[in-house]
Amino acid sequence: MNLKQRIIEDIGANGPMPFERFMHTALYGPDGFFGGGTLRSQKSGDFLTSPEVSSLFGETLAKYVDHVRQEIGEPFRLVEVAAGSGSLLRPLLATIDVDAVTVEVSPAARRALSDIVGVSDTLPTQIRGVVIANELLDNLPMALAQRIDGRWRERWVGAEDENLVFVDAEVRGEVRGWLDTYAGPVDEGGWVEVQLEARRWVSDVLERMIEGSILIIDYGETAENLRARRRDGTLRTYRAHHLGPHPLDEPGETDITADVNFTALLDIAPTTTLHRQDHFLASLGLRKRLTDLRKLELDAARAGDDMERLRLRTLKTEVETLMHPRGLGDFRVLEIEVGRNHTQRS
Ligand SMILES: C[S@@+](CC[C@H](N)C(=O)[O-])C[C@H]1O[C@@H](n2cnc3c(N)ncnc32)[C@H](O)[C@@H]1O
Repeated sequence: MNLKQRIIEDIGANGPMPFERFMHTALYGPDGFFGGGTLRSQKSGDFLTSPEVSSLFGETLAKYVDHVRQEIGEPFRLVEVAAGSGSLLRPLLATIDVDAVTVEVSPAARRALSDIVGVSDTLPTQIRGVVIANELLDNLPMALAQRIDGRWRERWVGAEDENLVFVDAEVRGEVRGWLDTYAGPVDEGGWVEVQLEARRWVSDVLERMIEGSILIIDYGETAENLRARRRDGTLRTYRAHHLGPHPLDEPGETDITADVNFTALLDIAPTTTLHRQDHFLASLGLRKRLTDLRKLELDAARAGDDMERLRLRTLKTEVETLMHPRGLGDFRVLEIEVGRNHTQRS
């Protein structure tokens, strides 16, 4: 019996389930998308993240980590959560020598990471250093709601014949609380992904932080700027680098994700700043690196060194992809500083 049939059986026995429970089963259950033996975040996988695009992502973030370390001193630790294949950590650790640990729930990713550093499935109790999570929050289980006749209704998962379908459900108190506070303007019929788990996760990290910084990098926007996308909502699937089937159609076979509503995280601490990824990486020297690469490529062309010219061109294209203002550059970096005497990054 496949995962979809098992979910249908569960619903037959216990009734419709909240969307966050379906999403958890589809992504992290034993036959879930991240639960099986396949490593998902890699070039040959289902989606391409910034660290998978270029080692320069990890190399650039190393400067941020080093800056915080110089500021707060030892003991210092880098914690990368949702480290996937290790494509961020590898170049980062090749750039700076720092005590590091990863937190991952996917068995395949944990296997890949164990070659590089220690892997845990829970966060350290106390953290003094930097926590980085790239494309974690968009994958955390979320509830789903729709605006109907000026009120909120939840969308749970039910079964009809051999299919999974959305069914109407009363909105739960905690879900309503989040919607009323963070959903922002939503027109009649609009869909909202209710990201209670993302907020809980960030609060949990904050409670463990003694001193340092948290960097949360993901696609998404403020509630206000997500308004135009609320008609159908932002929930979607990815498979083999392309948008996949309806989120209910093939649980376990596709990634399920939604844009992060950063408004629901901005008030979590007074020292929270929201950056664009292109601006954030530029502040760490990546735009300057691009200018240098263009110049070096020209020099190599003039010198007739085709191999070097091609190598530099590949690197240049990678940096352009990381900084593209309508692509990865449009991702957001949520920076939360904890107990730091802030100094200007050079
Ligand atoms: C989209 S992938 C991103 C991987 C990597 N950060 C990258 O950018 O290539 C999301 C990852 O988050 C992991 N994940 C999900 N929930 C987690 C949790 N609560 N703690 C740690 N990792 C988690 C998944 O197993 C998966 O590897």
